Amino acid sequence: MSKPIVVSGIRPTGNLHLGNYFGAVRSFLKMQHDYNCYFFIADVHSLTTHPTPGNLQAGVKQVLAEYLACGIDPELATIFIQSDVTEVMELYTFLNMNAYLGELERTTSFKDKARSNPENVNAGLLTYPVLMAADIIIHKAQFVPVGKDQEQNLEMARKFAGRFNRMYNNELFPLPQPFTFDGGDMIKVPGLDGSGKMGKSEGNGIFLYEDPKDIRKKVMRAVTDAGPTEPNSKKADAVENLFTLLKIVSTPDVVTHFEAAYNNCEIRYGDLKKQLAEDIIDFTAPIRERILDILKDDVYLGKVAKRGAEKAHESAQATLKEVKEIIGFRRLY
Ligand code: TYM
Repeated sequence: MSKPIVVSGIRPTGNLHLGNYFGAVRSFLKMQHDYNCYFFIADVHSLTTHPTPGNLQAGVKQVLAEYLACGIDPELATIFIQSDVTEVMELYTFLNMNAYLGELERTTSFKDKARSNPENVNAGLLTYPVLMAADIIIHKAQFVPVGKDQEQNLEMARKFAGRFNRMYNNELFPLPQPFTFDGGDMIKVPGLDGSGKMGKSEGNGIFLYEDPKDIRKKVMRAVTDAGPTEPNSKKADAVENLFTLLKIVSTPDVVTHFEAAYNNCEIRYGDLKKQLAEDIIDFTAPIRERILDILKDDVYLGKVAKRGAEKAHESAQATLKEVKEIIGFRRLY
Protein backbone atom coordinates (compact mmCIF):
# COMPACT_ATOMS: atom_id res chain seq x y z
CA MET A 1 0.00 0.00 0.00
CA SER A 2 1.29 3.46 -0.79
CA LYS A 3 1.78 5.86 2.08
CA PRO A 4 -0.71 8.71 2.63
CA ILE A 5 0.51 12.01 1.18
CA VAL A 6 1.29 15.02 3.35
CA VAL A 7 2.07 18.61 2.35
CA SER A 8 2.99 21.59 4.48
CA GLY A 9 4.97 24.79 4.17
CA ILE A 10 6.45 27.73 6.03
CA ARG A 11 7.04 31.26 4.76
CA PRO A 12 10.69 32.37 4.81
CA THR A 13 10.00 35.72 6.44
CA GLY A 14 12.21 35.36 9.49
CA ASN A 15 13.52 32.61 11.68
CA LEU A 16 11.35 29.76 12.86
CA HIS A 17 9.77 30.43 16.24
CA LEU A 18 8.26 28.20 18.89
CA GLY A 19 4.84 28.61 17.26
CA ASN A 20 6.14 27.21 13.98
CA TYR A 21 7.90 24.39 15.77
CA PHE A 22 5.10 23.23 18.04
CA GLY A 23 2.31 24.10 15.60
CA ALA A 24 3.82 22.42 12.56
CA VAL A 25 7.43 21.18 12.54
CA ARG A 26 6.92 18.79 15.44
CA SER A 27 4.22 17.06 13.40
CA PHE A 28 6.51 17.00 10.34
CA LEU A 29 9.12 15.13 12.39
CA LYS A 30 6.58 12.58 13.48
CA MET A 31 5.03 12.12 10.05
CA GLN A 32 8.14 11.84 7.92
CA HIS A 33 8.59 8.19 8.89
CA ASP A 34 5.18 6.85 7.97
CA TYR A 35 3.83 9.25 5.34
CA ASN A 36 4.94 10.45 1.95
CA CYS A 37 5.84 14.00 3.00
CA TYR A 38 6.39 17.16 0.99
CA PHE A 39 7.64 20.02 3.15
CA PHE A 40 8.44 23.27 1.44
CA ILE A 41 9.54 26.84 1.91
CA ALA A 42 6.75 29.13 0.73
CA ASP A 43 8.91 31.81 -0.89
CA VAL A 44 6.25 32.81 -3.42
CA HIS A 45 3.72 33.38 -0.65
CA SER A 46 6.24 35.59 1.12
CA LEU A 47 6.19 38.04 -1.82
CA THR A 48 2.94 39.51 -0.52
CA THR A 49 5.08 41.45 1.94
CA HIS A 50 7.60 42.60 -0.73
CA PRO A 51 10.95 41.33 0.62
CA THR A 52 14.13 42.67 -0.98
CA PRO A 53 15.95 40.12 -3.19
CA GLY A 54 18.66 39.83 -0.53
CA ASN A 55 16.18 39.19 2.27
CA LEU A 56 14.29 36.66 0.19
CA GLN A 57 17.43 34.65 -0.58
CA ALA A 58 18.72 34.79 2.97
CA GLY A 59 15.29 33.84 4.34
CA VAL A 60 14.99 30.77 2.12
CA LYS A 61 18.45 29.53 3.06
CA GLN A 62 17.85 30.16 6.73
CA VAL A 63 14.52 28.30 6.83
CA LEU A 64 16.00 25.39 4.88
CA ALA A 65 18.84 25.15 7.42
CA GLU A 66 16.33 25.41 10.26
CA TYR A 67 14.12 22.65 8.85
CA LEU A 68 17.17 20.39 8.68
CA ALA A 69 18.42 21.42 12.11
CA CYS A 70 15.03 20.50 13.60
CA GLY A 71 15.50 17.00 12.24
CA ILE A 72 13.56 16.94 8.99
CA ASP A 73 15.41 14.31 7.06
CA PRO A 74 15.81 14.77 3.29
CA GLU A 75 16.25 11.01 2.99
CA LEU A 76 12.74 10.51 4.35
CA ALA A 77 10.81 13.62 3.30
CA THR A 78 10.84 15.73 0.15
CA ILE A 79 12.08 19.17 1.19
CA PHE A 80 11.85 21.81 -1.49
CA ILE A 81 11.49 25.48 -2.30
CA GLN A 82 8.08 26.50 -3.63
CA SER A 83 9.39 28.63 -6.51
CA ASP A 84 11.39 25.65 -7.84
CA VAL A 85 8.17 23.84 -8.68
CA THR A 86 6.50 26.12 -11.21
CA GLU A 87 3.64 23.70 -11.90
CA VAL A 88 2.08 25.09 -8.72
CA MET A 89 1.78 28.51 -10.39
CA GLU A 90 -0.12 26.97 -13.31
CA LEU A 91 -2.54 25.17 -11.03
CA TYR A 92 -2.94 28.40 -9.04
CA THR A 93 -3.99 30.20 -12.23
CA PHE A 94 -6.56 27.53 -13.06
CA LEU A 95 -7.97 27.46 -9.52
CA ASN A 96 -8.24 31.26 -9.52
CA MET A 97 -10.90 31.01 -12.24
CA ASN A 98 -13.17 29.26 -9.75
CA ALA A 99 -12.33 31.28 -6.64
CA TYR A 100 -14.82 34.05 -5.94
CA LEU A 101 -14.14 37.55 -4.75
CA GLY A 102 -16.72 37.37 -1.97
CA GLU A 103 -15.32 34.24 -0.35
CA LEU A 104 -11.74 35.48 -0.65
CA GLU A 105 -12.61 38.84 0.89
CA ARG A 106 -14.32 37.13 3.79
CA THR A 107 -11.21 35.16 4.81
CA THR A 108 -10.14 36.20 8.30
CA SER A 109 -6.44 36.40 7.48
CA PHE A 110 -7.18 38.62 4.47
CA LYS A 111 -9.35 40.93 6.56
CA ASP A 112 -6.71 41.09 9.32
CA LYS A 113 -3.91 41.87 6.90
CA ALA A 114 -5.97 44.42 4.98
CA ARG A 115 -6.78 46.12 8.27
CA SER A 116 -3.22 46.12 9.63
CA ASN A 117 -1.59 47.08 6.30
CA PRO A 118 -4.11 49.13 4.36
CA GLU A 119 -1.43 50.47 2.01
CA ASN A 120 -0.58 46.98 0.71
CA VAL A 121 -3.81 45.14 -0.01
CA ASN A 122 -2.52 43.32 -3.09
CA ALA A 123 -4.15 40.62 -5.24
CA GLY A 124 -1.62 38.06 -3.97
CA LEU A 125 -2.92 38.61 -0.47
CA LEU A 126 -6.48 38.16 -1.66
CA THR A 127 -5.73 34.93 -3.52
CA TYR A 128 -3.30 33.65 -0.88
CA PRO A 129 -5.62 30.71 -0.01
CA VAL A 130 -5.80 29.75 -3.67
CA LEU A 131 -2.02 29.43 -3.95
CA MET A 132 -2.02 27.51 -0.71
CA ALA A 133 -4.67 25.16 -2.08
CA ALA A 134 -2.55 24.65 -5.20
CA ASP A 135 0.49 23.82 -3.01
CA ILE A 136 -1.51 21.15 -1.25
CA ILE A 137 -3.56 19.54 -3.96
CA ILE A 138 -0.84 19.47 -6.61
CA HIS A 139 0.59 16.52 -4.67
CA LYS A 140 -2.90 15.16 -3.91
CA ALA A 141 -2.24 15.56 -0.21
CA GLN A 142 -4.54 13.88 2.26
CA PHE A 143 -3.05 15.51 5.37
CA VAL A 144 -1.73 18.96 6.19
CA PRO A 145 0.05 19.48 9.52
CA VAL A 146 -0.49 23.14 10.44
CA GLY A 147 -1.34 25.26 13.46
CA LYS A 148 -4.75 26.69 14.31
CA ASP A 149 -4.04 29.94 12.43
CA GLN A 150 -4.14 28.02 9.13
CA GLU A 151 -7.46 26.32 9.80
CA GLN A 152 -9.47 28.57 7.54
CA ASN A 153 -6.92 28.43 4.72
CA LEU A 154 -7.12 24.66 4.88
CA GLU A 155 -10.89 24.80 4.78
CA MET A 156 -10.58 26.90 1.61
CA ALA A 157 -8.20 24.30 0.12
CA ARG A 158 -10.87 21.66 0.68
CA LYS A 159 -13.45 23.92 -0.88
CA PHE A 160 -11.37 24.56 -4.01
CA ALA A 161 -10.43 20.88 -4.36
CA GLY A 162 -14.05 19.78 -3.99
CA ARG A 163 -15.23 22.46 -6.39
CA PHE A 164 -12.79 21.30 -9.07
CA ASN A 165 -13.87 17.69 -8.60
CA ARG A 166 -17.54 18.60 -8.89
CA MET A 167 -17.11 20.98 -11.78
CA TYR A 168 -15.36 18.36 -13.89
CA ASN A 169 -17.22 15.44 -12.41
CA ASN A 170 -14.22 13.46 -11.17
CA GLU A 171 -12.39 12.63 -7.96
CA LEU A 172 -8.92 13.80 -8.84
CA PHE A 173 -8.25 15.63 -5.60
CA PRO A 174 -8.61 14.19 -2.10
CA LEU A 175 -10.02 16.73 0.38
CA PRO A 176 -7.00 17.53 2.59
CA GLN A 177 -7.51 17.12 6.34
CA PRO A 178 -5.62 18.82 9.16
CA PHE A 179 -3.14 16.69 11.09
CA THR A 180 -2.27 17.45 14.68
CA PHE A 181 0.63 16.10 16.67
CA ASP A 182 -1.49 14.47 19.34
CA GLY A 183 -4.64 13.83 17.36
CA GLY A 184 -6.45 16.64 19.24
CA ASP A 185 -7.39 20.13 18.16
CA MET A 186 -5.08 22.27 16.06
CA ILE A 187 -2.87 24.22 18.40
CA LYS A 188 -2.11 27.89 18.83
CA VAL A 189 1.13 28.73 20.60
CA PRO A 190 0.63 32.04 22.42
CA GLY A 191 2.94 35.04 22.56
CA LEU A 192 4.44 36.43 25.76
CA ASP A 193 2.94 39.85 25.28
CA GLY A 194 -0.53 38.87 26.42
CA SER A 195 -1.72 38.65 22.81
CA GLY A 196 -3.23 35.46 21.42
CA LYS A 197 -0.68 34.09 19.00
CA MET A 198 3.08 33.92 18.68
CA GLY A 199 3.95 35.11 15.19
CA LYS A 200 6.52 36.80 13.02
CA SER A 201 4.30 39.69 12.09
CA GLU A 202 3.14 39.99 15.71
CA GLY A 203 6.76 40.74 16.69
CA ASN A 204 6.49 38.52 19.77
CA GLY A 205 8.36 35.43 18.59
CA ILE A 206 10.87 33.35 20.51
CA PHE A 207 13.09 31.88 17.86
CA LEU A 208 14.86 28.53 17.65
CA TYR A 209 17.93 30.45 16.48
CA GLU A 210 17.82 32.95 19.28
CA ASP A 211 20.66 33.62 21.65
CA PRO A 212 19.94 32.24 25.17
CA LYS A 213 20.44 35.61 26.80
CA ASP A 214 17.89 37.20 24.48
CA ILE A 215 15.44 34.40 25.27
CA ARG A 216 15.91 35.05 29.00
CA LYS A 217 15.30 38.76 28.46
CA LYS A 218 12.13 38.17 26.46
CA VAL A 219 10.67 35.68 28.90
CA MET A 220 11.44 37.83 31.93
CA ARG A 221 9.59 40.72 30.27
CA ALA A 222 6.45 38.60 29.68
CA VAL A 223 3.19 40.22 30.69
CA THR A 224 1.56 38.92 33.91
CA ASP A 225 -0.80 40.36 36.53
CA ALA A 226 -0.64 41.17 40.24
CA GLY A 227 -1.17 37.51 41.13
CA PRO A 228 -4.21 35.61 42.40
CA THR A 229 -5.87 36.67 45.65
CA GLU A 230 -8.44 33.87 45.83
CA PRO A 231 -7.53 30.17 45.71
CA ASN A 232 -8.24 28.39 42.41
CA SER A 233 -9.13 31.59 40.61
CA LYS A 234 -9.34 31.87 36.85
CA LYS A 235 -6.10 32.96 35.18
CA ALA A 236 -5.87 36.18 33.18
CA ASP A 237 -5.14 35.54 29.49
CA ALA A 238 -1.49 36.61 29.74
CA VAL A 239 -0.91 34.26 32.69
CA GLU A 240 -2.74 31.44 30.94
CA ASN A 241 -0.38 31.99 27.99
CA LEU A 242 2.65 31.50 30.25
CA PHE A 243 1.20 28.25 31.50
CA THR A 244 0.44 27.12 27.96
CA LEU A 245 4.09 27.66 27.03
CA LEU A 246 5.21 25.89 30.16
CA LYS A 247 3.06 22.88 29.23
CA ILE A 248 4.69 22.82 25.82
CA VAL A 249 8.35 22.97 26.85
CA SER A 250 8.56 21.84 30.48
CA THR A 251 8.10 18.49 32.18
CA PRO A 252 4.71 17.65 33.76
CA ASP A 253 6.06 17.92 37.33
CA VAL A 254 7.17 21.49 36.67
CA VAL A 255 3.71 22.35 35.36
CA THR A 256 2.05 20.69 38.37
CA HIS A 257 4.32 22.60 40.74
CA PHE A 258 3.44 26.02 39.30
CA GLU A 259 -0.26 25.15 38.88
CA ALA A 260 -0.39 24.27 42.59
CA ALA A 261 1.48 27.46 43.51
CA TYR A 262 -1.01 29.49 41.47
CA ASN A 263 -4.01 27.76 42.98
CA ASN A 264 -2.66 28.35 46.51
CA CYS A 265 -1.96 32.01 45.70
CA GLU A 266 1.74 31.41 46.36
CA ILE A 267 2.96 31.82 42.85
CA ARG A 268 6.00 33.96 42.13
CA TYR A 269 5.87 34.81 38.46
CA GLY A 270 9.60 35.56 38.49
CA ASP A 271 10.33 31.92 39.40
CA LEU A 272 7.94 30.64 36.78
CA LYS A 273 9.55 32.83 34.12
CA LYS A 274 13.06 31.75 35.10
CA GLN A 275 12.08 28.11 34.82
CA LEU A 276 10.27 28.70 31.54
CA ALA A 277 13.27 30.55 30.05
CA GLU A 278 15.69 27.76 31.03
CA ASP A 279 13.38 25.06 29.66
CA ILE A 280 13.02 26.94 26.38
CA ILE A 281 16.79 27.33 26.17
CA ASP A 282 17.37 23.62 26.90
CA PHE A 283 15.11 22.89 23.99
CA THR A 284 16.41 25.49 21.51
CA ALA A 285 20.16 25.47 22.24
CA PRO A 286 20.99 22.20 20.43
CA ILE A 287 18.86 23.24 17.46
CA ARG A 288 20.65 26.58 17.34
CA GLU A 289 24.02 24.81 17.27
CA ARG A 290 22.91 22.66 14.36
CA ILE A 291 21.51 25.67 12.46
CA LEU A 292 24.88 27.40 12.73
CA ASP A 293 26.66 24.29 11.45
CA ILE A 294 24.32 23.62 8.56
CA LEU A 295 24.35 27.26 7.42
CA LYS A 296 28.09 26.92 6.79
CA ASP A 297 27.54 24.16 4.27
CA ASP A 298 26.21 25.72 1.07
CA VAL A 299 27.02 22.61 -0.94
CA TYR A 300 24.85 20.44 1.30
CA LEU A 301 21.99 22.97 1.26
CA GLY A 302 22.19 23.11 -2.54
CA LYS A 303 22.07 19.32 -2.79
CA VAL A 304 19.03 19.08 -0.53
CA ALA A 305 17.19 21.78 -2.48
CA LYS A 306 18.00 20.19 -5.84
CA ARG A 307 16.94 16.70 -4.83
CA GLY A 308 13.73 18.06 -3.26
CA ALA A 309 12.92 20.13 -6.34
CA GLU A 310 13.32 17.07 -8.57
CA LYS A 311 11.06 14.90 -6.44
CA ALA A 312 8.40 17.59 -5.98
CA HIS A 313 8.54 18.46 -9.67
CA GLU A 314 7.89 14.86 -10.63
CA SER A 315 4.81 14.62 -8.45
CA ALA A 316 3.49 18.07 -9.46
CA GLN A 317 4.02 17.41 -13.15
CA ALA A 318 2.00 14.22 -13.04
CA THR A 319 -0.96 15.95 -11.38
CA LEU A 320 -0.81 18.96 -13.67
CA LYS A 321 -0.93 16.72 -16.70
CA GLU A 322 -4.14 15.16 -15.40
CA VAL A 323 -5.58 18.58 -14.54
CA LYS A 324 -4.97 19.92 -18.04
CA GLU A 325 -6.45 16.84 -19.59
CA ILE A 326 -9.57 17.17 -17.40
CA ILE A 327 -9.99 20.90 -18.05
CA GLY A 328 -9.85 20.22 -21.78
CA PHE A 329 -6.56 21.67 -22.91
CA ARG A 330 -5.55 19.83 -26.06
CA ARG A 331 -2.49 20.52 -28.12
CA LEU A 332 -3.33 21.23 -31.76
CA TYR A 333 0.17 20.34 -32.96
P1 TYM B 1 3.52 30.43 8.44
O1 TYM B 1 4.82 30.58 7.73
O2 TYM B 1 2.87 31.63 9.00
O3 TYM B 1 3.67 29.39 9.61
C1 TYM B 1 4.23 28.11 9.38
C2 TYM B 1 3.55 27.06 10.23
O4 TYM B 1 3.65 27.39 11.61
C3 TYM B 1 2.36 27.38 12.19
N1 TYM B 1 2.29 28.44 13.21
C4 TYM B 1 1.76 28.26 14.42
N2 TYM B 1 1.19 27.18 14.99
C5 TYM B 1 0.75 27.31 16.27
N3 TYM B 1 0.88 28.46 16.98
C6 TYM B 1 1.43 29.56 16.44
N4 TYM B 1 1.58 30.67 17.16
C7 TYM B 1 1.91 29.50 15.11
N5 TYM B 1 2.50 30.38 14.27
C8 TYM B 1 2.72 29.71 13.11
C9 TYM B 1 1.40 27.68 11.06
O5 TYM B 1 0.10 27.21 11.38
C10 TYM B 1 2.05 26.93 9.94
O6 TYM B 1 1.68 25.56 10.00
N6 TYM B 1 0.23 29.92 4.77
C11 TYM B 1 1.24 29.21 5.50
C12 TYM B 1 2.34 28.60 4.65
C13 TYM B 1 1.83 27.73 3.58
C14 TYM B 1 1.30 26.42 3.73
C15 TYM B 1 0.96 25.99 2.42
C16 TYM B 1 1.10 25.59 4.83
C17 TYM B 1 1.81 28.04 2.26
N7 TYM B 1 1.29 26.99 1.55
C18 TYM B 1 0.41 24.73 2.21
C19 TYM B 1 0.53 24.33 4.59
C20 TYM B 1 0.20 23.92 3.31
C21 TYM B 1 1.88 30.21 6.46
O7 TYM B 1 1.91 31.38 6.22
O8 TYM B 1 2.49 29.62 7.52
